[in-house]
Amino acid sequence: MELNRFIYLYLTGVINMAGGPGSYLFGEEERKELSDVMETGYLFRYGSEDDPNFKRKVVTFEKEFAQYSGVKYCVAVSSGTGALMCCLAALGIGPGDEVIVPGYTFIASISSIILSKAIPVLAEINESLTIDPDDVRKRITKRTRAIMPVHMLGNPCDMDRIMEIAKEHSLYVIEDCCQAAGASYKGRKVGTIGDIGAFSLNIFKTITAGDGGMVITNDYDLYERAFGFHDQGHKPNRTGVEVGNRSIVGMNMRMNELTGAVALAQVRKTDKILSLMHGKKGKLKKLISDVPGVGFRVINDEKGECATLLTLLFKDKETADKFGAKIGSKTISHSGWHVYNNMEQILEKKTATEYNCPYVCEAYGRNIEYHAHMLPRTDSILERAINVSIGVVDKGLGAAFGLDVNSTDDEIYNTAEKIKSIMKEI
Ligand SMILES: Cc1ncc(COP(=O)(O)O)c(C=O)c1O
Repeated sequence: MELNRFIYLYLTGVINMAGGPGSYLFGEEERKELSDVMETGYLFRYGSEDDPNFKRKVVTFEKEFAQYSGVKYCVAVSSGTGALMCCLAALGIGPGDEVIVPGYTFIASISSIILSKAIPVLAEINESLTIDPDDVRKRITKRTRAIMPVHMLGNPCDMDRIMEIAKEHSLYVIEDCCQAAGASYKGRKVGTIGDIGAFSLNIFKTITAGDGGMVITNDYDLYERAFGFHDQGHKPNRTGVEVGNRSIVGMNMRMNELTGAVALAQVRKTDKILSLMHGKKGKLKKLISDVPGVGFRVINDEKGECATLLTLLFKDKETADKFGAKIGSKTISHSGWHVYNNMEQILEKKTATEYNCPYVCEAYGRNIEYHAHMLPRTDSILERAINVSIGVVDKGLGAAFGLDVNSTDDEIYNTAEKIKSIMKEI
């Protein structure tokens, strides 16, 4: 792009330099995969094996992401939200079923449950900023069908405890891994510990293709149903319109070859991205680890987390507010998108069928209520928490301050010095 044009777009906000680490590392690899596809212009995910025009980017991406995760099956889809919808459909979760989900997550974790006509039951987080297993246990009723742990900000949830509870109560576990591609918990990749896992490739994620997502599972039946749901009921990797062979009513959430091409180049960079993030986060954390008044959120697996963000936990709301103002940011509770208190659509039950609100489910004998500040523990943690970017630069997460994947050692040092000097002032 011509420099003046770039500057114009940057200044007018059309381009802003925010995104996940993968987006900062677009290069020759993405261009090569894309130009393979553009050589023939064949953009559909299906094609004939013998057709030289068909470059098999989506199918190859699915295979490589499954291999990378150590899992049997992967379906590439058009978004993380779509991936969650496929997971819920694959498990047959629907009217009257309750799904326990944390109050600190992106809205799609909750809305996908609502749009499956099931009931989201909001649970507290703990100081890992992921779902609190003790609170999950308290919220189980006879209607509970699943738990949806969200590996928030790249931190794997306490999966041992969650799986233990799920087993005890015969519940499904849907891992929302949208913010945690590449993360692992005790040696197992996220998304492979529960029954099924959902990932996002949107621009703020560890790896990205602009938009897109994946579903992974080891269970063939779940794979077939998720696949069918994403493609009008078709069986995996159809060769045409297979009338008479479709087992489920589905939608179109297919990924196209252009997205598949970028996703393929990015999945091959995942380990490099994680290693860059760990290196930078380790250095920054070390430089500020003995600054009085600065604490950190609990990380459930230090080696396995994505390290895309460093979350600071202060002793009280006042200190966190002052710190946030000094860095031109806000505490997580006020940073927008990801906190249930700021989701008026959920709290006010504004569904497309508002007058026949499907998730009130009176038929099941109970009107579930949502209201601001219904999760006091979550509120008290998030009002003391500030996100510092390591690789995900996202104002919507409260992470516009900090590093990016290309930050130098000098920049890491300067960021640490800024944190130290602010802490002296406040
Ligand atoms: C935790 C979580 N779940 C689901 C999603 C939805 O992903 P997408 O934006 O690709 O639909 C996101 C995206 O921000 C997310 O962070």
